[in-house]
Amino acid sequence: MALLRRPSTFRRYLVAAFLSALTVYLLTQTQPNTTPWRLRQSANKHPIDGLVQAAEKEFAAKLSRETHTLSAAAAAYRKRRGRHPPPGFDIWYEFATENNALIVEDFWDQIYHDLEPFWGVNPAQIRKDAREFEMRIEIRNGKASTSSDWFWTLIWLDMIQTIEHLLPDMDLALNAMDEPRVVVPWEEMDVHLKRAVKTKKLANPRTVVSEFSNWREEQREEPVVEWEHDKHYWAIARRGCPPKSLARQAELITDFDKPPFIASTSSLVHMQDGYVANYTLSTDFCHQPDLQALEGVFVEPISTSATSTLLPLFGGSKLSVNNDILLPAPIYWKEEERFIGAEGASIPWSDKHPSALWRGVATGGRNRATNWRAFQRHRFVAMNNATMLSLAASRPTTHPPPNFALPAADVLNQYNLPPLTPTLNHERGGDEEDDLPTWLSKTTDIAFTDLMCANEGFGPSCDYTAPFFAPAEGVPMAAQFRHNLPVKATLWREWHDARLVAWRHFVPMDGRFGDWWGILRTDRVAERIALGGREWAGRVLRKEDMAVYVLRLLLEYARVGEERREVMGWVGI
Ligand SMILES: *[C@@H]1O[C@H](CO)[C@@H](O)[C@H](O)[C@H]1NC(C)=O
Ligand SMILES: *[C@@H]1O[C@H](CO)[C@@H](O)[C@H](O)[C@H]1NC(C)=O
Repeated sequence: MALLRRPSTFRRYLVAAFLSALTVYLLTQTQPNTTPWRLRQSANKHPIDGLVQAAEKEFAAKLSRETHTLSAAAAAYRKRRGRHPPPGFDIWYEFATENNALIVEDFWDQIYHDLEPFWGVNPAQIRKDAREFEMRIEIRNGKASTSSDWFWTLIWLDMIQTIEHLLPDMDLALNAMDEPRVVVPWEEMDVHLKRAVKTKKLANPRTVVSEFSNWREEQREEPVVEWEHDKHYWAIARRGCPPKSLARQAELITDFDKPPFIASTSSLVHMQDGYVANYTLSTDFCHQPDLQALEGVFVEPISTSATSTLLPLFGGSKLSVNNDILLPAPIYWKEEERFIGAEGASIPWSDKHPSALWRGVATGGRNRATNWRAFQRHRFVAMNNATMLSLAASRPTTHPPPNFALPAADVLNQYNLPPLTPTLNHERGGDEEDDLPTWLSKTTDIAFTDLMCANEGFGPSCDYTAPFFAPAEGVPMAAQFRHNLPVKATLWREWHDARLVAWRHFVPMDGRFGDWWGILRTDRVAERIALGGREWAGRVLRKEDMAVYVLRLLLEYARVGEERREVMGWVGI
């Protein structure tokens, strides 16, 4: 795993560039007398203005659902979940309020998304699968322990130990790999979810059982789960999509040694006027079959070990189709210097650099001479390389390799950027005549720190990509905060997704990056989003918030593994 970049202005703001995500820090110009850049079609309203307004509304609606008492929190729970809260809900509430956590029921949506299918699985099966998994954390008599010495597991153990005294006995199976593991075919998931919905009810409070069972050690057998090691993850992942989805129907691409096809923005339902309008939908790849040749994880992950069995397996991040259960990723809990740099947080907005910065390793999967053109980080670095763009513009047919994945002309047009020609007037102050390459060289600082080569054992150099990319020095996280608006393009889902609002707390970017140049030129909302995101991170992404999340998650997990789960709950009020 490389490139886990943990921003720190956003002290604990986890705009994770986890696995294959890509987070760029951008600060757009704030010079006076700058005419805001406009779309050709409408002189007054930029599409981003409408998206920001919608985000403000969504955020205000979320905030209005904050609850301030235990009974209001329980009522919100029953309304949203259709069940009684789990036993121990009052203890959870007390822990949350003692830790000054904001209580908005929506914030825990991910937990219910992850656990709901298990209501359709026999509880004995859930317990069995957990206790037989090779890597586990066990909780007994208010103490968490593990026999593993894997560093991720030890960090998760440290996290769970902060709440161990509040937890019933249980076994947690943990995924030690970078990649998520569970992809239940859509058709089977449908069966689980239909069974689960039948268990959804508010049992009569007089018959509700409000204590967890006493723990009984059960016999351990050899696990019978089948693991698949197909290197082509798209072939595995797409079975989690609906049968009629484009991902299921599209032809399987196996030749990655050519320029990938890039879908046009107008054909993508998560986009509006060229920008991401529905962030959650943008991370769902079932309607985006072209991503099979645009994302390293689909082309060839570092490792694959997947199953179609619905195992209760905990992990730090996953794709929309994965059925792993999300915990906060270990790097968020362990405040490693590589990922934080709180001193950068205090830099005032006006002192920041008006340019975009990205540093990272050429990972996102295992790139090879025959597939690197299908990797998103390579594409992003290439499209920000002024030299490469100039070459592509002047000799588009004689210099094909670097030209491999530039956005199509229609995408360029959408951003008022003509196809790559040396004369580009981007309507800034009127007298600016910079062409795209010149403009990019002034406004971006984007490079790999390591070419991560399959041929040379992940060394810094690489015979097949060296002609196209020059590695640069890394930039410490604290220094990255001299650029401060996070722009995030990812397919990965994480524990905090339900508490962040795209265009309010960060700028979402499409996985094809066709919106990148338009985003780069948007100075109208940058300060508001950057400062709003920073403030919000300090409120809802603290380590305390992770502990509150995990406590709620594990109470729910313990209940779903109980024989009497359908009549268990907290009905104090
Ligand atoms: C985003 O798309 C999802 C899935 O289609 C939908 O359920 C959700 O309501 C959409 N969100 C917004 C804000 O439009
Ligand atoms: C930019 O592209 C040129 C030409 O392909 C290449 O030689 C150079 O190494 C690239 N620079 C970076 C920073 O990747």
